[in-house]
Amino acid sequence: MKRIVVLISGRGSNFQAIAEANLPVEIAAVISNRPNAAGLDYARSRGLPAVALDHTIYPDRESFDAALAAEIERHAPDLIVLAGYMRILTAGFIQRFEGRMLNIHPSLLPMFPGLKTHERALAEGIKIHGCSVHFVTADLDHGPIVIQAAVPVLADDTADTLAARVLQQEHRIYPQAIRWFAEGRLLINDGHVNLLGDQASQSVFP
Ligand code: GRF
Repeated sequence: MKRIVVLISGRGSNFQAIAEANLPVEIAAVISNRPNAAGLDYARSRGLPAVALDHTIYPDRESFDAALAAEIERHAPDLIVLAGYMRILTAGFIQRFEGRMLNIHPSLLPMFPGLKTHERALAEGIKIHGCSVHFVTADLDHGPIVIQAAVPVLADDTADTLAARVLQQEHRIYPQAIRWFAEGRLLINDGHVNLLGDQASQSVFP
């Protein structure tokens, strides 16, 4: 069975959705750069190895990412899953794990890379928003896209109501992406993800 390591920084609702999806993977460890992340408590409640690696005690990004990489390697994962992991990764770290690291981003990439995606979507007046699971590359929030889900933007939406609607879809598409990875169905070809095997949709509409 494929092994995954999940990186979180906070609430951990995506991690929870992944843990509850009965995926054909072993969650080898959950690592948070914030020791008080609620997701760590959830991991412990499920008897999963939960590791706090406090980034604030490292002098710089390089030394923290080196410690993070060493901790990840101890668990020998096939796949690293960024689930609300809120720190920029160094180029060296990304290179080391390229092709076996997924991220979820709360927008329809390549629209709105970076932070505050829901606020920016509302400010632009777009009518369809969503979320994307993608492989992580050096180009922030621009790696090969595995699956995307769309949601409508409603006239009375606030950033919070829109975020909640998107989050429901995040919980749906992230387990799906990991399942495809575990089944060996994701092929990165010329910067795009080809889904091997049975026809399945990489675009989800509510
Ligand atoms: C999610 O919206 C994710 O897309 C973004 O941060 C949020 C994390 O939520 N990167 P959670 O910790 O998984 O509940």
